[in-house]
Amino acid sequence: MKISIYREKLKDKINNKKAKIAVIGLGYVGLPLAVEFAKKGFFVFGIDIDKKKIKALSRGNSYIQDIKRTALSELLSNKLISFSCDYRNIVKSDIIIICVPTPLRKTREPDISYVVEATRKIKDNVKKGQLVILESTTYPGTTEEILLVLFSERGLKVGQDFFLAFSPERVDPGNRVFNTSNITKVVGGVSKNCAYLSKLIYSKIIPQVILVSSSKVAEMTKLLENTFRAVNIALINEIALMCDKLKINIWEVIEAAKTKPFGFMPFYPGPGLGGHCLPVDPLYLSWKSRRHGFEPRLIELASQINSHMPNHVVNKVVELINSKAKHSILEANILIVGVTYKRDICDIRESPSIDIIRMLLEKQANVSYYDPYVSQLPIGKKSLHSIKLTKKNIFGFDCVVIVTDHAKIDYSFILKNSKLIFDTRNVFKKFNNSKVFRL
Ligand SMILES: NC(=O)c1ccc[n+]([C@@H]2O[C@H](COP(=O)([O-])OP(=O)(O)OC[C@H]3O[C@@H](n4cnc5c(N)ncnc54)[C@H](O)[C@@H]3O)[C@@H](O)[C@H]2O)c1
Repeated sequence: MKISIYREKLKDKINNKKAKIAVIGLGYVGLPLAVEFAKKGFFVFGIDIDKKKIKALSRGNSYIQDIKRTALSELLSNKLISFSCDYRNIVKSDIIIICVPTPLRKTREPDISYVVEATRKIKDNVKKGQLVILESTTYPGTTEEILLVLFSERGLKVGQDFFLAFSPERVDPGNRVFNTSNITKVVGGVSKNCAYLSKLIYSKIIPQVILVSSSKVAEMTKLLENTFRAVNIALINEIALMCDKLKINIWEVIEAAKTKPFGFMPFYPGPGLGGHCLPVDPLYLSWKSRRHGFEPRLIELASQINSHMPNHVVNKVVELINSKAKHSILEANILIVGVTYKRDICDIRESPSIDIIRMLLEKQANVSYYDPYVSQLPIGKKSLHSIKLTKKNIFGFDCVVIVTDHAKIDYSFILKNSKLIFDTRNVFKKFNNSKVFRL
């Protein structure tokens, strides 16, 4: 490995905790990462374009459940972290980590504009000796094809004058066991020096850091992980649809299959994929693959099956209302329980509940919802508000639909007071009750 004086300087700064870190994009990924570095004694500049977020964070108000207000306030008062919209802080930083969104365009193609925008702004302030790491999930090649090309325009030589790497974020918001500090990190550098420094900095906050041979391999690793989940969820969703036709309880089948000690991993059916990752990331991969002349069939099929699930839920609810409540869906009163895309978090991005509610409203049902984490829910131009779960309220609904299985909901209270339930998460697995119907 060719030694660079900048590499040696940054190495010393990291080892002495003198390296200053800028985290760009303070969302579900960036904020926990910024806090983790600050907790370990590194000074962190948190940078975001959202002024409201910056104002709240600067007052110690965290909008992410996994980050406690007390922890944030302590870091602010110890002057280990600061929040601003000011990209000029890049000049004062040694390491810059990019955690901006990577959504899809309306055409379902990758929208890499946030990464490009952040990189351009960093480029305007970049200087020799800095390490830049991209963490946003993206298609293989982004780090070299976009970031490296832009930084090279400044005449900087990668691996010598500055350092560049990709390291996928694997955070799972709401997970009580695994968080930023204990999830193994994968790192791929654009050169050996880039990889070396990136591994060194992450090792200061995470016990296990795995080096791969290139940024492309690291980018692909993340897409494999999420595509694996999306495809397996699609498989179990399809099996659930089959079981519905065959009148077999899919949940019981999974429990039985799970007893095999090898060669099987349980996935569970549900009302549809949600969040910023699983519905989006595999499509980054298929887009890139197509550009290289390979048509990925499984990813597209999985995406179709998963995105059909909200329709299936609505069809089942209509069927139940007709056959059990002896009511038409028109003006039927329906309660949706849980509107976030997964349990125990407040994130509603791409949540299947939104599609389910929208479709039920289109069928002219009266729809209300209850979610302990979401007080208000925008549906098109309308806004719904979470109702209170009282005995009288619950009994007033023709059907209760469980869409998100938050742990703190009292399901036996719901069961006791409702007339009819459609359970998409098997929360009532312990209750063999004639008013409960499962996905
Ligand atoms: N949320 C997850 O569970 C998760 C897990 C693993 C990976 N990821 C990936 O990490 C990336 C970030 O996801 P997230 O969930 O944290 O997104 P997020 O929307 O919660 O946060 C992104 C933040 O970036 C800010 N931002 C946008 N453009 C900016 C710019 N030019 N400069 C500075 N700030 C900017 C936004 O204001 C926002 O606060 C995505 O690529 C995502 O796919 C997310």
